[in-house]
Parts: sequence; structure tokens; C-alpha cells
Amino acid sequence: MADLGTTYIGLTLPNPIIVSSCGLTGTAKGIRQCVEAGAGAVVVKSLFEEQIDLDVSSQQEHSDLSSHPEASEYIQQMGKHLGPSAYLKLIQTAKRENQVPIIASVNCVSSEWWVDWARQLEKAGADALELNIAIMPRSPEQSCDEIEKRYVQIVEGVSKRIEIPIAVKIGPYATSLPALARALTRAGAAALVLFNRFYQLDVDIDKLTPTPGYQFSTPNEIYQPLRWISVLSTVLDCQLSGSTGVHSGKEAVKLLLAGAQTVQLCSTLYCNGLERLGEVRDELDSWMETNGFASIANFRGHLAQVAQKEPETFERLQYIKALTGVG
Ligand SMILES: Cc1cc2nc3c(=O)[nH]c(=O)nc-3n(C[C@H](O)[C@H](O)[C@H](O)COP(=O)(O)O)c2cc1C
Repeated sequence: MADLGTTYIGLTLPNPIIVSSCGLTGTAKGIRQCVEAGAGAVVVKSLFEEQIDLDVSSQQEHSDLSSHPEASEYIQQMGKHLGPSAYLKLIQTAKRENQVPIIASVNCVSSEWWVDWARQLEKAGADALELNIAIMPRSPEQSCDEIEKRYVQIVEGVSKRIEIPIAVKIGPYATSLPALARALTRAGAAALVLFNRFYQLDVDIDKLTPTPGYQFSTPNEIYQPLRWISVLSTVLDCQLSGSTGVHSGKEAVKLLLAGAQTVQLCSTLYCNGLERLGEVRDELDSWMETNGFASIANFRGHLAQVAQKEPETFERLQYIKALTGVG
């Protein structure tokens, strides 16, 4: 068996396969089952900033849920059963019961006072904090600069208050992802999680109402994180964790070759059960054995280095080949 061990934002993991923040990691039992299934680390289901706001103020008007449809939906669905105090207890229990790193997660949209609350997560024993920042631009008055500043302020605000490492999970939409990524790194992000997969909007054409779109990814969605991890892994001073579209060992290998430090799984576990986790890990192991790699460090980032040599030619050439059918 190959050595699958790795580090991620200063933590030691038995393997690079992390269960990403989702309903499967929202209870102590769920987290335990993920670890038993072979997870290298677990990101706990996000606590939404609005939940912290609601819990502390107990006044609905302090919380503008309309600014965040994903949170509103989530809180309605979950009946707010997991408020901040329950969340802290969940982190404590998960830490006590499991040997792998437990990463807390907060979904944030503002850079307000709530960042102080991150300290409590640290005190509860979280090994790291993943900030899932999802600001949905709606108004033409809002410039990208303004929005990106908020991302950076959130990370700066939290990193000033806590010692544990911070990973920042973002979506794929930015005019210059490298510039945003570097700003987040300078603000204190030890890793970027690329990418969050946003709530999908669909329409019920009989009832003429909006409905949630299909919740889960497919393996074809790997291409976006794959491209950006291969571009960013050689130019940033932070680590990258690949998320979206990892359904088998093949996708995990591709992201690691692109330079990811870890990969995160969610949809495939919902669709195929938690045992899929062990299968992905075994597929990674068997690929390493077949290709003569004794450890992940032996091949991580290999593709990114190839692409780095002549990035313009590489990208442009593939693009022209695809459009002209020549090549
Ligand atoms: C049911 C469900 C709940 C999720 N909840 C969260 C969440 O609370 N916080 C978060 O950062 N991401 C959440 N996600 C996004 C996943 O962590 C992951 O980034 C996304 O599903 C893409 O990965 P995948 O292709 O492996 O599914 C959720 C996804 C699903 C399907």
C-alpha cells in the first residue's frame, strides 16, 4: 500500500480525502461515520452567519435573511435546530470522538461583529476554520471591487482573532481569480477551497414558481476546479483543496496532479453511500501503486508544473484545437 498521508494547513491527515461541509457532517454520529468510512478529515456542516445573529440578538430584524437565499432555505429546512451553542457542542464531541482533524465551517456574507464568535469555535477545539463566503451580487450599483473587499475584510477580521488555520471556500466566479486568491492569502487564508457549488435555481413550469435545482454534482464538474487549481497552485503562497465533481479516485488523482493538497467529497457520498469514500481512497492507492508513486508528494502538482512552462501556448493551443477540430 502506498503512503497516502499528507498535511493540510498544518494538520496531519491519514489521507487527502476530506468530507466537505454538508448534511452528512451535521451531527456527531454523521461525523463519526465519515471517519469510520475513511475520511482524512471532516468539515462540519456550516453554521450560517444569520444563525449566529439570530441566536445572539433573538431579534429577527437584526438578520436580513433575504440577502441570502441559501441561508434562508437552509434555516427553514433545518428548523434552526443547530444554533451556535449546539454547534460548539458538536465540535467538542467530534473532537473527543475522532482522531482526524475536525474543521469547523461558517457561511458568511458580511464582515460584521460575528467574527468574534470564531474564537469560540477555536476554544471548542476546532482544528481549523473553513469560511464559506458566498456573496451573491445582485445590484448593478455594486462593483466587483466592493464585493471582493468584503471577502478580504471577512478573512482579515477572522484571522486577527484566531490562531487556528483558516481555509476560505469560494465560488468560481471572479474577473481575476488569481488576484482575488492572492488577496485572500495575504489577508490570512492558509488554504482556498475551490470551489463551492452554489444553490441551483430551477423553475416549476406548471406552478410557475422557482424551485431548487438538482442538488448534486456530476464528475463532469471537475473541469473547473481542475483548471483553476493547476493555474493557481504554482502562483500562490497558500494550499488548495479541490471541491466539486470528485466522484471517484480518478478525479482525486487529477486534482492532486494539478496541485491540490487535499480533495473534498460530498455529492458522491449522498448518491452512493459513505462506503464510496473508502473506494475513492483505494482507487487512489491503486493508481499510485500502478504508477510507481510511493507517496503523494511524489506526484502532487506534476501537471501544474507542465502547464506553467508555457501557460499561454498551453491554454490558447487547446482552445484553438477544440474550436477548429484540428489537433
Ligand atoms: C445537501 C448539501 C448541503 C451542503 N451544505 C453545505 C454547507 O453547509 N456548507 C458548505 O460550505 N457547503 C455545503 N455544501 C456544498 C458541498 O460542501 C460541496 O462544496 C459541493 O457539494 C461540491 O462538492 P461535490 O461535487 O462533492 O458535491 C452542501 C452540499 C450539499 C449537496
